Amino acid sequence: WPFFAPYIHAINLLKKERGAVLLAHNYQTPEIFHCVSDIRGDSLQLAKEATKVDADVIVQCGVHFMAETSKLLNPEKTVLIPDMRAGCSLAESITGADVRLLRQKYPGVPVVTYVNTSAEVKAESDICCTSSNALKVVESFGTDRVLCIPDEYLAQNIAKQTKVKVIAWKGHCEVHERFTPEELRQYRKDDPNVVIIAHPECPPEVVAEADFAGSTSGMISWVKEHKPARVVMVTECSMSDNVAVENPDVEFVRPCNLCPHMKRISLKNILESLVYMREEVTIDPAIAAPARRAVERMINLGN
Ligand code: 13P
Ligand code: SF4
Repeated sequence: WPFFAPYIHAINLLKKERGAVLLAHNYQTPEIFHCVSDIRGDSLQLAKEATKVDADVIVQCGVHFMAETSKLLNPEKTVLIPDMRAGCSLAESITGADVRLLRQKYPGVPVVTYVNTSAEVKAESDICCTSSNALKVVESFGTDRVLCIPDEYLAQNIAKQTKVKVIAWKGHCEVHERFTPEELRQYRKDDPNVVIIAHPECPPEVVAEADFAGSTSGMISWVKEHKPARVVMVTECSMSDNVAVENPDVEFVRPCNLCPHMKRISLKNILESLVYMREEVTIDPAIAAPARRAVERMINLGN
């Protein structure tokens, strides 16, 4: 903390001077999440909040697709990401050309893309979804088949909750695909009273071992509401650290996996981002218009 303090102080001062607002995803480390960010949440909450920002500058403390979503919803504002290399294995698993080929293969089938995709992929889709609204989005078309891409496991987890035939793609989150059902069974063996909650980017056989599955904010709300004595959050490491601050009576068991992309964002590069106004996220207007439509359609569906 003594090392963080000068950065926290400088960021909070400069943020005001620049008229900037800092958006932080739930996977950011506690010193970013609790000490410098203005708006915090899961992918859907950040996208929704981005529509309400009245600051001139948005600094996205998250990964590149999140910064692109903020830019899509705020084309006239300056959107900065402290490290342009903060990517995502899901976003990298599919291109706009892949979506065009899928449309040829499944003519007339609606295309739902997870927000964890590039603007180019969003531009080829009918609507976006996040892990907290995927079921509602998939059922919103009233069709018997829907393409839900690129997260294969999210699609399979949704398929279990609906009569709609969900056609998937082979993309995976490199953080959540590493959890195994054996690992979860071992936690229960070690402590039969432990509560296990998982993110739906985990394989279905992992989710099947959990007591609850939901988006990052869904998991946080679940802990706040149920106050379990001991809980395993089957997701990215910083989640437990962030939630522990607000739930001192809950013990968090820490079998977590790190997202190397989220961890590219640090107090140091947030400060540099504000000092040098870098790195600016831009989107080709020809791509931005249809991509914005897909995000706005999702937001307009409501919770
Ligand atoms: P949510 O915060 O929407 O649950 O997404 C999780 C994630 O992996 C974001 O990259
Ligand atoms: Fe992508 Fe997974 Fe990292 Fe989220 S946690 S940014 S889905 S790689």
